[in-house]
Amino acid sequence: MSMHDDIAKVLFSEEELSAIVSRLGDEISRDYAGKELLMVSVLKGSVMIMADLMRKVRIPASIDFMSVSAYGNGVKNTGNVQIIKDLGQDIRGKNVLIVEDILDSGLTLDYLKHNLESRGPASIRICTLFDKPERRVSAIKADYVGARVPDEFIVGYGLDYAEKYRNLPYVGVLKPEIYTN
Ligand code: IMP
Ligand code: MG
Repeated sequence: MSMHDDIAKVLFSEEELSAIVSRLGDEISRDYAGKELLMVSVLKGSVMIMADLMRKVRIPASIDFMSVSAYGNGVKNTGNVQIIKDLGQDIRGKNVLIVEDILDSGLTLDYLKHNLESRGPASIRICTLFDKPERRVSAIKADYVGARVPDEFIVGYGLDYAEKYRNLPYVGVLKPEIYTN
């Protein structure tokens, strides 16, 4: 059995993802020109977008990583956010850009944004590859959005279901029978 057999349909091909990430890189390069930019990747889902996006950012930028957990192996956010791995630096006075894979209920980013805000950065913004606005629970908005996606569970290009499918080079909708049985 191949991973590809579990995909009901492809939503974004490798080429489409590359075009989206290039456009985000342009916007970020323009907006942060002359500023000290720190890109913070939220592991593990944003590993692909982070690696590709940082190469499309044409201004000096540093990077750091955080890991938070809210899901366990399920498909719904329980609202219970925990920091598994924190930043390795003080962000006071820095322009922080949180890089996320997907903004769904918004509970993860709501928690993270407030947590980082309390550390006194110069600014804090959110870049998300995907946005599922229909599912929003908290009043959080991303400053940079790659693409809106429908209310379906998607995998690939970093996004997982039960830690699988992150290494698919494209993004697709998982067949519902994979997570309902
Ligand atoms: P939120 O707190 O509900 O916004 O959840 C954000 C996190 O949930 C993301 O960083 C993903 O890890 C995960 N997530 C939400 N929707 C999906 C999806 O469709 N596929 C894979 N992971 C998802
Ligand atoms: Mg996940």
